[in-house]
Amino acid sequence: DRPAPLQGRCALITAGPTREPLDPVRFIGNRSSGRMGYALAAALAARGAEVTLVSGPSALAPPALAGLVRVETASQMAAAVMERVAGCDLFVATAAVADYRPAAPASDKIKKDAAELTIRLVRNPDILAQVAASPARPFTVGFAAETERLEEHAAAKLRAKGLDMIAANRVGGEAGGFDADDNALVVLWPGGRRAFALMPKTRLAEQLADLIVERYLASLAG
Ligand code: C5P
Repeated sequence: DRPAPLQGRCALITAGPTREPLDPVRFIGNRSSGRMGYALAAALAARGAEVTLVSGPSALAPPALAGLVRVETASQMAAAVMERVAGCDLFVATAAVADYRPAAPASDKIKKDAAELTIRLVRNPDILAQVAASPARPFTVGFAAETERLEEHAAAKLRAKGLDMIAANRVGGEAGGFDADDNALVVLWPGGRRAFALMPKTRLAEQLADLIVERYLASLAG
């Protein structure tokens, strides 16, 4: 057996999409399946971490973990994370959080009387940026899903949000990304870079977990 490098460490992971209600029956959502986050949660648990998964709606069976918190909206996900992040050693944000939510969800089902309908949206909290800016923050890892200029956008997010690592993947193309079984990643950190070829998300999660362990242990040493 390999030693468990994260024994005694706790990790908090967000995964899946969020749903932002328009009315009691409809929502704004996205195509995230939760696969990458669930696989990464399992991989970090296998390396000894006490993992809590904060998950938006996903059809996947959750891995056996220390904790599972199910949420729907970005605001609920933010609250669930901020309640639990103090004293955590690692935070990994894989969730596809809605950037905006309807300003005033209707309390009754919206009727199709009008020929046009305008819905006003307001910004959601950036959970990852909030965690990265929190006092005594954990080793903080973000994801960046981009359709173009992948590394440039990811490097900008690494800096802007003050992250320890960012894993960038191309979306909207032929292979990989959202709601797919396979993914390819470019991982950046201050002063470093590693590329992972297209492979099943479960195998990719194992390799990414090893890199997170490596960089996390390096951050403790240095
Ligand atoms: O800025 P962008 O949304 O591209 O950043 C993506 C990263 O930030 C992902 O790690 C995602 O989980 C996280 N994020 C978040 N809360 C938001 C938006 C994004 O935690 N409201």
